[in-house]
Amino acid sequence: MDWTALIEKALEGMQHAYAPYSGFRVGAALLAKSGKIYTGCNVESCAYTPTCCAERTALVKAVSEGEREFSGLAVVSSGGADGEYTSPCGVCRQMLFEFCPPKMPVVLAKSKQHYRVVSLGELLPLGFGPAQLGKEGPSCE
Ligand code: THU
Repeated sequence: MDWTALIEKALEGMQHAYAPYSGFRVGAALLAKSGKIYTGCNVESCAYTPTCCAERTALVKAVSEGEREFSGLAVVSSGGADGEYTSPCGVCRQMLFEFCPPKMPVVLAKSKQHYRVVSLGELLPLGFGPAQLGKEGPSCE
Protein backbone atom coordinates (compact mmCIF):
# COMPACT_ATOMS: atom_id res chain seq x y z
CA MET A 1 0.00 0.00 0.00
CA ASP A 2 1.24 3.49 -0.89
CA TRP A 3 0.74 5.72 2.11
CA THR A 4 2.19 8.84 0.47
CA ALA A 5 -1.15 10.62 -0.04
CA LEU A 6 -2.21 10.08 3.58
CA ILE A 7 1.17 11.30 4.87
CA GLU A 8 0.87 14.37 2.64
CA LYS A 9 -2.51 15.17 4.20
CA ALA A 10 -1.06 14.75 7.70
CA LEU A 11 1.70 17.22 6.76
CA GLU A 12 -0.99 19.63 5.54
CA GLY A 13 -2.83 19.22 8.84
CA MET A 14 0.35 20.00 10.77
CA GLN A 15 0.51 23.43 9.13
CA HIS A 16 -2.40 24.50 11.34
CA ALA A 17 -0.91 23.20 14.60
CA TYR A 18 -1.40 25.55 17.55
CA ALA A 19 1.49 24.63 19.82
CA PRO A 20 2.84 27.83 21.45
CA TYR A 21 3.69 26.04 24.73
CA SER A 22 5.43 22.86 23.63
CA GLY A 23 6.59 24.03 20.21
CA PHE A 24 5.94 20.42 19.17
CA ARG A 25 3.72 20.48 16.09
CA VAL A 26 1.74 17.40 15.16
CA GLY A 27 -0.43 16.55 12.15
CA ALA A 28 -2.75 13.62 11.53
CA ALA A 29 -4.80 12.33 8.62
CA LEU A 30 -7.56 9.79 9.13
CA LEU A 31 -8.91 7.85 6.16
CA ALA A 32 -12.62 7.03 6.46
CA LYS A 33 -14.14 4.03 4.69
CA SER A 34 -16.15 6.57 2.67
CA GLY A 35 -12.84 7.54 1.05
CA LYS A 36 -12.73 10.97 2.67
CA ILE A 37 -9.62 12.03 4.56
CA TYR A 38 -9.95 14.12 7.73
CA THR A 39 -6.93 16.11 8.85
CA GLY A 40 -6.08 17.24 12.37
CA CYS A 41 -3.46 19.15 14.30
CA ASN A 42 -2.67 19.59 17.96
CA VAL A 43 -4.47 22.49 19.63
CA GLU A 44 -2.87 23.49 22.92
CA SER A 45 -4.32 25.35 25.90
CA CYS A 46 -2.53 27.68 28.31
CA ALA A 47 -4.02 25.47 31.04
CA TYR A 48 -2.15 22.55 29.38
CA THR A 49 -4.52 19.65 30.22
CA PRO A 50 -7.34 20.68 27.84
CA THR A 51 -4.91 20.30 24.93
CA CYS A 52 -6.24 18.22 22.08
CA CYS A 53 -3.84 16.03 20.12
CA ALA A 54 -3.81 15.95 16.33
CA GLU A 55 -5.19 12.40 16.20
CA ARG A 56 -8.23 13.21 18.33
CA THR A 57 -8.83 16.42 16.39
CA ALA A 58 -9.02 14.38 13.17
CA LEU A 59 -11.18 11.69 14.76
CA VAL A 60 -13.67 14.13 16.26
CA LYS A 61 -13.89 16.07 13.01
CA ALA A 62 -14.68 12.85 11.14
CA VAL A 63 -17.20 11.46 13.63
CA SER A 64 -18.95 14.83 13.83
CA GLU A 65 -19.36 14.71 10.03
CA GLY A 66 -21.11 11.33 10.29
CA GLU A 67 -18.17 8.97 9.72
CA ARG A 68 -18.08 5.82 11.84
CA GLU A 69 -15.65 3.49 10.05
CA PHE A 70 -11.99 4.05 9.29
CA SER A 71 -9.23 2.29 7.41
CA GLY A 72 -5.98 4.14 8.13
CA LEU A 73 -4.29 6.91 10.07
CA ALA A 74 -1.06 8.84 9.41
CA VAL A 75 0.77 10.87 12.06
CA VAL A 76 3.60 13.36 11.52
CA SER A 77 5.36 15.82 13.82
CA SER A 78 7.85 18.65 13.71
CA GLY A 79 10.42 16.45 15.39
CA GLY A 80 10.90 13.90 18.11
CA ALA A 81 13.81 13.03 20.37
CA ASP A 82 16.66 11.44 18.43
CA GLY A 83 14.56 11.19 15.29
CA GLU A 84 12.05 8.81 16.87
CA TYR A 85 8.71 8.34 15.16
CA THR A 86 5.87 10.21 16.86
CA SER A 87 3.26 7.76 18.03
CA PRO A 88 -0.25 8.49 19.38
CA CYS A 89 -0.52 9.10 23.13
CA GLY A 90 -2.50 6.75 25.37
CA VAL A 91 -5.63 8.90 25.37
CA CYS A 92 -5.67 8.99 21.56
CA ARG A 93 -5.09 5.24 21.33
CA GLN A 94 -8.15 4.68 23.51
CA MET A 95 -10.34 7.09 21.50
CA LEU A 96 -9.20 5.52 18.23
CA PHE A 97 -10.04 2.08 19.62
CA GLU A 98 -13.65 3.22 19.99
CA PHE A 99 -14.09 3.52 16.21
CA CYS A 100 -11.18 1.79 14.50
CA PRO A 101 -10.46 -1.94 14.27
CA PRO A 102 -7.30 -3.32 15.94
CA LYS A 103 -5.98 -4.31 12.51
CA MET A 104 -6.17 -0.74 11.18
CA PRO A 105 -2.78 0.50 9.93
CA VAL A 106 -1.28 3.50 11.72
CA VAL A 107 1.45 5.17 9.67
CA LEU A 108 4.09 6.87 11.83
CA ALA A 109 5.89 9.17 9.42
CA LYS A 110 8.96 11.38 9.56
CA SER A 111 8.48 12.28 5.88
CA LYS A 112 6.80 10.90 2.78
CA GLN A 113 9.79 8.59 2.32
CA HIS A 114 10.47 7.60 5.92
CA TYR A 115 7.66 5.93 7.76
CA ARG A 116 6.80 2.91 9.82
CA VAL A 117 3.44 1.13 9.74
CA VAL A 118 2.02 -0.47 12.88
CA SER A 119 -1.51 -1.60 13.69
CA LEU A 120 -3.78 0.02 16.25
CA GLY A 121 -3.84 -3.34 18.07
CA GLU A 122 -0.06 -3.22 18.40
CA LEU A 123 -0.34 0.26 19.91
CA LEU A 124 -3.10 -0.81 22.29
CA PRO A 125 -2.88 -4.56 22.96
CA LEU A 126 -5.82 -6.08 24.86
CA GLY A 127 -7.58 -2.73 24.52
CA PHE A 128 -10.87 -2.04 26.23
CA GLY A 129 -13.47 -1.58 23.49
CA PRO A 130 -17.23 -1.24 23.02
CA ALA A 131 -17.55 -5.04 22.75
CA GLN A 132 -16.64 -5.35 26.40
CA LEU A 133 -19.77 -3.38 27.27
CA GLY A 134 -21.80 -5.60 24.94
CA LYS A 135 -21.94 -2.92 22.24
CA GLU A 136 -21.31 -3.24 18.53
CA GLY A 137 -17.95 -1.80 17.65
CA PRO A 138 -14.83 -2.24 15.60
CA SER A 139 -13.23 -4.43 18.27
CA CYS A 140 -15.89 -7.05 17.36
CA GLU A 141 -14.28 -7.49 13.90
N1 THU B 1 0.70 15.44 20.67
C1 THU B 1 -0.12 15.12 19.62
O1 THU B 1 -0.83 15.96 19.06
N2 THU B 1 -0.11 13.82 19.21
C2 THU B 1 0.75 12.87 19.63
O2 THU B 1 0.76 11.78 19.08
C3 THU B 1 1.66 13.16 20.74
C4 THU B 1 1.50 14.49 21.38
C5 THU B 1 0.77 16.86 21.06
C6 THU B 1 0.18 17.24 22.38
C7 THU B 1 0.96 18.50 22.69
O3 THU B 1 0.36 19.61 22.03
C8 THU B 1 2.32 18.28 22.07
O4 THU B 1 2.13 17.25 21.12
C9 THU B 1 3.42 17.91 23.06
O5 THU B 1 3.02 16.85 23.83
